Amino acid sequence: IDQSLIRNFSIIAHIDHGKSTLADRILQLTGTVADRDMKNQILDDMDLERERGITIKLNAVQLTYKAKDGKTYLLHLIDTPGHVDFSYEVSRSLAACDGAVLVVDATQGVEAQTLANVYLALDNNLEILPVINKVDLPSADVERVKEEIEDVIGLDAQNAPCISAKTGLNVDEVLEDIVKNIPAPTGSINNPTQALIFDSYYDSYRGVIVIVAVKDGSIKVGDHIHFIATDATYEVTEVGVRTPREITKDELVIGEVGWIAASVKDIKDVHVGDTITTLENQSKTALPGYRRMNPMVYCGLYPVDNARYKDLRDALEKISLSDSALTYEPETSQALGFGFRCGFLGLLHMDVIQERLEREFDLDLIATAPSVIYRIVKRDGSYTSIDNPASMPDPGTFDHIEEPYVKVSIMTPDDYIGAIMDLCQNKRGEYVDIEYLDDSRREVIYNMPLSEIIFDFFDKLKSSTKGYASYDYELIGYRESDLTKMDILLNGEVVDALSTIVYRQFARTRGNAICVKLKELIPKQQFEIPVQAALQGKIIARTNIKAVRKNVLAKCYGGDISRKKKLLEKQKEGKKRMKAVGSVEIPQEAFMAILSVD
Ligand code: GTP
Repeated sequence: IDQSLIRNFSIIAHIDHGKSTLADRILQLTGTVADRDMKNQILDDMDLERERGITIKLNAVQLTYKAKDGKTYLLHLIDTPGHVDFSYEVSRSLAACDGAVLVVDATQGVEAQTLANVYLALDNNLEILPVINKVDLPSADVERVKEEIEDVIGLDAQNAPCISAKTGLNVDEVLEDIVKNIPAPTGSINNPTQALIFDSYYDSYRGVIVIVAVKDGSIKVGDHIHFIATDATYEVTEVGVRTPREITKDELVIGEVGWIAASVKDIKDVHVGDTITTLENQSKTALPGYRRMNPMVYCGLYPVDNARYKDLRDALEKISLSDSALTYEPETSQALGFGFRCGFLGLLHMDVIQERLEREFDLDLIATAPSVIYRIVKRDGSYTSIDNPASMPDPGTFDHIEEPYVKVSIMTPDDYIGAIMDLCQNKRGEYVDIEYLDDSRREVIYNMPLSEIIFDFFDKLKSSTKGYASYDYELIGYRESDLTKMDILLNGEVVDALSTIVYRQFARTRGNAICVKLKELIPKQQFEIPVQAALQGKIIARTNIKAVRKNVLAKCYGGDISRKKKLLEKQKEGKKRMKAVGSVEIPQEAFMAILSVD
């Protein structure tokens, strides 16, 4: 391999601007995938991803391209996930590259994740090549978008290819741009081996498969690889690349992006961002930028049927083999029985895992409302972290509580600025800045508690801006807040799984709203059920769920038995997602009621 002919790049874009479509077109154009094999969006290979239209798992493909200069280049296209939950993974996959193709939708312009991705690319010193996509659409405004790229991002966009990833128009210009403007990898085969891990997945036959970019040296079959951050060592059994078919090779050398199998049984040894070296050609130092990923959002997961606790444990164990960012620990709830406290990178990650548990493992789950991690700070300044509102200590036993804050950046047409500011203010947002993007668009920046974002913030944002605003957020640290635990009582009993930590000033309105919501959601039963919200035992809100007047069976009293059975069966169906808490049947939605109350 001639190192000067290697190009390693990613495609970055705001969601729906056409990243996957362009990747498909590039695979087709380089003959990597024959037209007839062309399955839409080959890089997103999980069903779930395609259904949700988002990219979660990273992947890398090796392509060859014969350029207009007559030379044949070896390209590695590295896929990046497109959602804010996965920004660290995006950053590491960009660190595997030397350049990035920035796709901007000609009908939309620069949006929040366009910028967020550009910043990540700049952090990694990448050459950024702007590309204007969807020029086939009548509403495309190429000149305005070019100006926006220059004004907002500061990149020269005059010669940016104007393409349609859909029809293939001018996509060859993108490839020419890549070979001309992205530098070749700079390492050397003679240096100590360093390879950056930017993805991994579990294969039940070969163990953990690690996806790496080799930055220096080489990795051969039979070499002993050493993971620097986790200090684990394994013997390499296979290496190879994807084209996107898997191809086995004898070695991966500097500049190559490929996979390594080494019978690694424990995914905990493999961390995205860590460096692999070999004992045969050992590097004492790691590549820069490694960070442990910590979950930001927690919730309790419980099987509807208590007998399936063990199945849930096995399922979590299996999923965590391919997803090192998922954490889980056994937890018991008086209301829900045995379950797990699970940690996720963000709300989307949480959704994806829940869906996989239900779909792939056929589990019916009750999920409690998500919570952030609070710090309970003692008088001596030390603190304990809690991820479950039910475990908050009594007031008086600590000094104060701190909660995580994020900086939210919202890009919007200026018509909606008022609505956005109202929304942010109502969510305890602290105004930071409004920046001028172009004649009609602004970037609105607020600092806000992460917990308020978990409450339907983004749904509200979408509805109050007719879907025109885009957003991004990053953690900025912990701050002291006036927070308190709010309990919910059903039939006079505290239901621990419904406890939440709330901002004291919001407690009364939230408490009221939850009681009303629970009244709607919990079906009437044979007896009247009081629903109450309480702060430290003091009731602050109350409603009643009236008793049912008749029971279903009364209708067919004396009637034929099969009809009776059918009715009972129907009732059972409806109960699937119900959990009996004491004498009260509570549906799944009730545990999420807190999320949709204001
Ligand atoms: P994520 O995977 O969610 O990050 O989105 P993406 O950026 O990969 O976008 P994707 O390629 O899935 O394209 C989004 C939508 O835009 C799809 O419906 C595409 O068919 C459409 N699209 C992409 N490129 C073009 C284009 O050049 N012209 C037109 N008209 N539509 C396009």
